[in-house]
Amino acid sequence: MERDSAFGVLIVGTGAIAELHIAALRASDRAELVGLVDTDPARAAAASYANGGVRSTTDLTEALAWPEVDGVIVCTPNGSHATIAHAVAAAGKHLLVEKPLATTTVDALAVLEDFRRAGRVLATAQTHRAYDYSLAVKSALDSGRIGDPLVIRATLLGGWIWGDWRSWAIDPGASGGHSLHNGVHLLDLVCWWMGARPDSVYARGRKQTAGELEIYDYLELVLRFPGNKIAQCEMSRAHRPGVISHRDVQVIGTAGTLSLPWDAEPSLVLDEQGMSVLLPAGGNGFARQLTGWLDAIAGGDALASGEDGLAAVAMAEAAELSIATGQPVPLTALAVEVVP
Ligand SMILES: NC(=O)c1ccc[n+]([C@@H]2O[C@H](COP(=O)([O-])OP(=O)(O)OC[C@H]3O[C@@H](n4cnc5c(N)ncnc54)[C@H](O)[C@@H]3O)[C@@H](O)[C@H]2O)c1
Repeated sequence: MERDSAFGVLIVGTGAIAELHIAALRASDRAELVGLVDTDPARAAAASYANGGVRSTTDLTEALAWPEVDGVIVCTPNGSHATIAHAVAAAGKHLLVEKPLATTTVDALAVLEDFRRAGRVLATAQTHRAYDYSLAVKSALDSGRIGDPLVIRATLLGGWIWGDWRSWAIDPGASGGHSLHNGVHLLDLVCWWMGARPDSVYARGRKQTAGELEIYDYLELVLRFPGNKIAQCEMSRAHRPGVISHRDVQVIGTAGTLSLPWDAEPSLVLDEQGMSVLLPAGGNGFARQLTGWLDAIAGGDALASGEDGLAAVAMAEAAELSIATGQPVPLTALAVEVVP
């Protein structure tokens, strides 16, 4: 039963990304943090201490029964998302789940179906949709000023994520591999910008940090869309120096070209009128993402829905399969069909 006061949110998993969700909750006048769960008792207690002594536990079932919990944000390692999501649906709560929605398409679809049956909102934290740069690209495309997108190139290079050799992110069982862990950001974005789902995904992976890695920390991803449209993506967490965060986007449309070069905040549009600069909106991605989830619960559209999360997982699974086989993978080759 939802209360009249601010929407009560339970955070599950109190690591690095949870802090950004908690900061967004703190800044919101529509939702508030009402509880924390972490299977590590010391981390649960520390997070409670850092957040004014808010209720915490190591037991998800116990927390889902707290009456002040209206919705849940899941911030645990990828391999645990589907199991936790099923428990959230069974408890009748709304869910914002960190990416990837699950580590297999079959698991992601089962979560989606659970939420459809429960009549609760499932949104996915495809957070890059909420950033200024991606919203600028999206609104330029929606305005029609560069026409129909034909080719999208998108690059995200970083070097910070693996931490050290104990990180769960380099364990394919816990993260699903780099396509699931980070590839989902770009795979989702280019589809959102293109306004379509691809027919096939072709990927190559490289173990750039070290040959001993069990995952490919550098990915090239090529998506073929209906109408001979194409997206080329590069996603790396292996670049040096470790603090590097390099972004580069180009969209070639039927009436012009948009570029977002070299980590610049403003985009450039070149069309028949000449060159113009699109200034960024200057917002906070995690706050926007939270607002999108709350809007969806109130009956609007989520910034990224459960269906979007499922599509991202399916494309990422296809990418991992393509790396393993060396062949493009049609999305129909997966266990379920992902429709727009
Ligand atoms: N949206 C983004 O841009 C973005 C960025 C980074 C990470 N992420 C995602 O956020 C999630 C968390 O990543 P992180 O970097 O914060 O991880 P982390 O390792 O820093 O934190 C994970 C926390 O979850 C706890 N935990 C593990 N299993 C649990 C379970 N079953 N129930 C409850 N708690 C459990 C751990 O003890 C730890 O405190 C991952 O799914 C990751 O892919 C998203």
